[in-house]
Amino acid sequence: MIRTILHYPDKRLREKARPVAAVTPEIQGLVDDMAETMYAAPGVGLAATQIGEPVQVFIVDIAEEGQKSQLTVFINPEIVAAEGELTWTEGCLSFPGVQEDIDRAAKVTVRALDRDGRPFTLTAEGLLAVAIQHENDHLRGELMIDHLGPLKKRLVHRKMQKRLEDPHP
Ligand code: NI
Repeated sequence: MIRTILHYPDKRLREKARPVAAVTPEIQGLVDDMAETMYAAPGVGLAATQIGEPVQVFIVDIAEEGQKSQLTVFINPEIVAAEGELTWTEGCLSFPGVQEDIDRAAKVTVRALDRDGRPFTLTAEGLLAVAIQHENDHLRGELMIDHLGPLKKRLVHRKMQKRLEDPHP
C-alpha cells in the first residue's frame, strides 16, 4: 500500500524512531509499503519516520532507471565507521523541489538487520553512502535542512512554508 509521505515542516519528521524489537510480519508489511511508496514517488531512499511510523527502518535503492532494482532494507541500523568527506547535491521526498549541497562522510560502514531479521554489515561509498547517512538522520529526527548554513536554511524553510500554504501554485 502506498503511504502518504510527510513533508517538512510536519512535526512528526522530528520524532526519534524507536528500535524494532522483533522483525515481525507487521514490520515486513511496513517495509513492503515503504518500498511501494518510495518507488511510486520515485526516490532513492525512504525512512519509516517519513510516513509517520517512528521505528528504526529505512530502505535504499540507488539503481538508475532501467537498471535492476537493488533494494536494501536496514532495520535497527547503526553506522559503525565513517571516513573521508564528500559533498553531494541531495534531495528528500519530505522536501519536494529542494536540492542542496550537503557535506557527508565519503565512506560508511553500517550494521543492521535485513527484511528477514538477519544481521549484516555493509560498507558503502558515493551515492549509497550518502543515502545511508541521509536516511539514518531521519531515524534520529534530523533532516537535510539541519546540515545547511543559516541563510540557506531560512530560504528552504520559507520555500517549504510557502508550498504548505499553496501546494499547487
Ligand atoms: Ni529524506
